[in-house]
Amino acid sequence: MIILGIETSCDETAAAVVKDGRILLSSVIASAADIFAKYGGVVPEIASRKHVEFILPVIDQALKQADYTLKDIDKVAVTYGPGLVGALLVGLSAAKAIAVSMDIPIVGVNHLKAHIAANYVSNPDIKPPFLCLLVSGGHTNILKVLDYDRIESMGQTRDDAVGEAYDKVGRVLGLEYPGGPKIDKMAILGDPEAIAFPRTKFRDDPYDFSFSGLKTAVINYMNTKEQKNETVCKEDVAASFQKAVTDVLVDNVFAALREAEMGKKIVLAGGVAANKGLRNALEARAGKENVKIYYPPITLCTDNAAMVASAAFYIPNSNMELNADPSLEI
Ligand code: KG4
Ligand code: ZN
Repeated sequence: MIILGIETSCDETAAAVVKDGRILLSSVIASAADIFAKYGGVVPEIASRKHVEFILPVIDQALKQADYTLKDIDKVAVTYGPGLVGALLVGLSAAKAIAVSMDIPIVGVNHLKAHIAANYVSNPDIKPPFLCLLVSGGHTNILKVLDYDRIESMGQTRDDAVGEAYDKVGRVLGLEYPGGPKIDKMAILGDPEAIAFPRTKFRDDPYDFSFSGLKTAVINYMNTKEQKNETVCKEDVAASFQKAVTDVLVDNVFAALREAEMGKKIVLAGGVAANKGLRNALEARAGKENVKIYYPPITLCTDNAAMVASAAFYIPNSNMELNADPSLEI
């Protein structure tokens, strides 16, 4: 089964061809991140226009890279939510046009389930059931992946998502959007114990998260230093912030793993799954507790269409009524 995947939920226009949900034949991503760097974040209207500009060349290139034409495609898969409505509609329109003109089925894919499916691409070992830590720009969840299309949330953020906190802290450190990968690099050069930033835990719900207090603590730290005219070691701020984030993520997901009874493995997904500090912290704890950690290759952690084409292999077809759902849940 050859599936063409299309992804336009935020600032990446992506298309990919995947065979049988697992074998990556091509993946093309056109990112507008450079444009948004100067705005400090994604501007929805500009994102939609960039998708319109990029979508057809990106699909063409994905087909060419796989050495296919549209005639070889069995199904077209597209992200229909969550995301920016105008951005989602561009991908949906392209997918519907292909489905109608080639007379093939269309499959609407939940972007969050697609992030999980990034792990299935080229990794035959990973099959449900497993516990998943999903960390992206818009979401932070501990998920019980009971089957490919049966997912239950055990915990979620009550305010900011991890990626969102990274990008906001990046901004106060003077880094361009997206700040996440830059903080990750900077953190290697700093002392993670230099500044005692808070770790928020909930007694009533040990698997939930909150990152807005941490984000505010970093902003206050930077403001106080500036008012006192004191120099700031940005590397120490990055390292201490990253340590505060990873401590909470690691503690909560290992506690959840004990309760979930889903075997001794944790699967990471979402853009922040690319974070070296998080991967290392999870691996370190996993070594002590005899747990195996899985994560996608870096190129499949952030938004791409291979994960969309993979997820579509495991779910039913949609129909032409398929519409954008900007606040779709898992
Ligand atoms: O999954 P994704 O591409 O988009 C959403 O679905 O939200 O995630 C994007 C987020 C951004 O907040 C970005 O800063 C963050 O993932 N990110 C990272 C790293 N790479 C991307 N955060 C921390 N460390 C990284 N290496
Ligand atoms: Zn995403």
